[in-house]
Amino acid sequence: MKPRVVDSIQNREADHCVDIFVRDDGTFGFEEYRRDAEDGRGWFPIANYSALGFATAAEALAEAKARVRWLAPEAPFQLRPATEGDRDALEKLYRDCRRDAPWLPAWRTDPTFASVSEGEAVYVAVTNGGELEGFVSAWESDPFVHHLYVREGSRGRGVGTALLASLVGKLPFPWRLKCVRANTEALDFYARRGWQPKDEGSGSEGAYVELQLDAWVR
Ligand SMILES: CC(C)(COP(=O)(O)OP(=O)(O)OC[C@H]1O[C@@H](n2cnc3c(N)ncnc32)[C@H](O)[C@@H]1OP(=O)(O)O)[C@@H](O)C(=O)NCCC(=O)NCCS
Repeated sequence: MKPRVVDSIQNREADHCVDIFVRDDGTFGFEEYRRDAEDGRGWFPIANYSALGFATAAEALAEAKARVRWLAPEAPFQLRPATEGDRDALEKLYRDCRRDAPWLPAWRTDPTFASVSEGEAVYVAVTNGGELEGFVSAWESDPFVHHLYVREGSRGRGVGTALLASLVGKLPFPWRLKCVRANTEALDFYARRGWQPKDEGSGSEGAYVELQLDAWVR
């Protein structure tokens, strides 16, 4: 018997669709179809997904999202090198994050981001609306991650991890960074990603730990 369609999802233009179906033997599958308004042929399959088998409709849908580009959820943010147009937003985010940082000593000075990132490669995470979510800056020749900041309301959504991951292939390992000892949340974040303490010292922002990462873990 013909498989029974249990779900059908169309794109916004209503010229592509994905059907999730169940076969007689209880396995699930999916197929992508297209239709051309002009030729009156109706829906016709355009891929060869229907031979794939899944135990549940949810598994079939997850695989469809991985294979059919228009079906995939839109990424919540994009990563790219910073441009001149990001200058004001970078300064504001840097200032806001430092103003609200309980781990920074009261006696520190707050320079501009432009002055502390001179000569560094800067990458930004921006929403699809173009709003700055976070940034990372690094010295590429002597691999060192100098600044990593994510907007407070956007933390815990993978932005910091994605910014670090964007350096893979650009920054040769091992990577180093310094983290203020009082910034225990960041130290935990780095430890869970494989960074190891290598040295310690004291600087203009208090005691710090120097960490090293030998390979990308996650
Ligand atoms: C430290 C900091 C950069 C981390 O950035 P972040 O965007 O919150 O980090 P992530 O969201 O990638 O990871 C944080 C947690 O969210 C979880 N998370 C939630 N949703 C996630 C998703 N969609 N993808 C990946 N991770 C996700 C991660 O699993 C992670 O938990 P874990 O560390 O237990 O594994 C950020 O907290 C920050 O800007 N702090 C203030 C500035 C600062 O301290 N900078 C470092 C100076 S050295």
